[in-house]
Amino acid sequence: MDSHILYQFNFKIKRMNLINQTPEVSKTCRFFIRAIKNAAFILLLTILNPLYTNAQDDLIINTQGRKTVSLNGTWHYIIDPYETGFYDYRLRERRKNDGGAYWNKFVPKKKTDWTEHGYQAPYNIQVPGDWNSQDPQFLYYEGTVWYQRNFDTPDVTSGEDVYLYFGAVNYEAHVYLNGKKLGMHKGGFTPFNFKIPAALLKDKDNFLVVRVNNERHQEEIPTVNTDWWNYGGITRDVKLVVVPQEFIQQYHIQLAQDQDIIKSQQLKKYDIKGWVKLNEAVTDAEVSIEIPELKVKRQYKVTGDSLKFEFDVKKISLWSTDNPKLYDITLKLNGNPISDKIGFRKIEVDGEQIKLNGKQIFLRGICIHEEIPQEVRRAHSKKDAAQLFGQVKELHANMVRLAHYPHNEYMPRMADSLGILVWTEIPVYWTIDFGNPEVLKKAQKQLKEMIVRDRNRASVIIWSVGNETPVSETRTQFMSTLVKDAKKLDPTRLVSAALEVGYNEGKNYVDDPLGEYTDIVSLNEYLGWYGGLPDACKTAQWETKYNKPFFISETGAGAKGGFHDEKEMRFSEEYQKWFYEEQIAMFKERFPDNFSGVSPWILADFRSPRRNNPDYQEGWNRKGLIDNKGNKKLAFYVLQQYYKELKEKAGH
Ligand code: GCU
Repeated sequence: MDSHILYQFNFKIKRMNLINQTPEVSKTCRFFIRAIKNAAFILLLTILNPLYTNAQDDLIINTQGRKTVSLNGTWHYIIDPYETGFYDYRLRERRKNDGGAYWNKFVPKKKTDWTEHGYQAPYNIQVPGDWNSQDPQFLYYEGTVWYQRNFDTPDVTSGEDVYLYFGAVNYEAHVYLNGKKLGMHKGGFTPFNFKIPAALLKDKDNFLVVRVNNERHQEEIPTVNTDWWNYGGITRDVKLVVVPQEFIQQYHIQLAQDQDIIKSQQLKKYDIKGWVKLNEAVTDAEVSIEIPELKVKRQYKVTGDSLKFEFDVKKISLWSTDNPKLYDITLKLNGNPISDKIGFRKIEVDGEQIKLNGKQIFLRGICIHEEIPQEVRRAHSKKDAAQLFGQVKELHANMVRLAHYPHNEYMPRMADSLGILVWTEIPVYWTIDFGNPEVLKKAQKQLKEMIVRDRNRASVIIWSVGNETPVSETRTQFMSTLVKDAKKLDPTRLVSAALEVGYNEGKNYVDDPLGEYTDIVSLNEYLGWYGGLPDACKTAQWETKYNKPFFISETGAGAKGGFHDEKEMRFSEEYQKWFYEEQIAMFKERFPDNFSGVSPWILADFRSPRRNNPDYQEGWNRKGLIDNKGNKKLAFYVLQQYYKELKEKAGH
């Protein structure tokens, strides 16, 4: 925007402000002036810079199955706690062509030229990766960091478009290319992409800048208070996605949920349903679906921007924890292919049981944070996923709760190939501003992004809309809206949330009103850690108001790895072992019949600014079964033994 216009605009407003001095006119007058001011400002922004307000194009799914160019690697950065790159010294937003704006490259041409920002070594930072683990100056940093790199335009034919795709940026990202704003995104754990106008692309040295801010705010998701480290930065893969001008943007293909899978097996007739969403409407185009192993080859004529399809197959190997069968699938629009690997399975609740492919299944779970504790950093790669799942498998677990936010896409994709069931969640965590409609919109957006990205992952069986949110009318209204949204977005999976329960020696009664809406009743209980000693489990009784599957989404106790003492000693490995022994005995002897699984808190110690016991915590939540150096604690083997027994009994 041209500064002098803005200046005049402001000046006019200032003059109008004078009118506000006279009290009787002021109230109504002020209201109208503000309304006019805001409306006019947005209008002006929209007219002058339509690109600016375009928050985000529709998400492109399965970038792994498309033509992409990675932009991972070494980027440059500027730490900008005072937002100097965005605002001038009068805290006015900098003009688009302002040489002092950090989205602009300013190369001094003559001796008298000067600039006060630039992107070069040694100010290097790795992408993907949080900034906190890359340099001690960033360890506790919450604020703005500007990221920059150049890239050359890949080979693009005239019929193709280029999109810029981010796996995730924590928390708020403003993206600029060659001095122009492509858009912004909020939410630290879900992907987003922007179409790059062809006219904006240069063959060489495109100047890409991302302003990243990870400050916490009451009205955001998550809000200011969490029990995990607020890792900032471009934390996941960045890539250019090259697609035909008309392409398949999203799709879903799975066993039709409304079929009786046992009958389908008997009749050797499996009903497969799905849909395809295109980036724009087409006329008389052709979409084809090929699943060679199932001898499926179907063509459909399409006019418009979407297609629904349904067909059945005689023989199929159903995806399950002991048979993680994935089929190669190719979808084409006018011959342009996108490939994917998909497992076919049915997940459902039948009364008080969770059933996978028509058979009851008990969830032997474990909670995971998206972190590699040995390196004190966010996990982001296939290798990181392999490390975490390696430990999960060692536990004989068949399920993971990815807490408390959607993890990187390598996680559900690896779970698909390993046969591990997945609970994935949006960070509606603790004291969210439930009464604020804007906050609900933010939660709904993150929920949609989570479901859109992972809806083709057979391993994902549960969408969770939140964790330990305090019971109130407003909260239940907020949360039940999310449950309904999830069911609309994807009726083929279960929806839940981690509820809270009170402790007492006698009966623990689960009656959280949100349990009315969820498919399974999941709760976090810490009887023996936050409530009493582990012996309390010996007498505790449990009952839920709901005739639904009952799932323990968290239970656990702290232990500093290598600290040994009598079992009564808090933070000793012996206490944690005692805790697990008593919990497991309680599960076996005193839990209701609808008990359908448990995911203890947590696989490994993780960073938390809330944990400051100088002897035992030192900024770590120590409830891991594996310590921050990767060593297994005594309790790891207690849970491993319990799961081994269950696995042998279940036969899978
Ligand atoms: C809570 C919460 C976790 C937290 C854990 C703990 O239940 O959901 O995020 O880390 O308890 O207290 O260790």
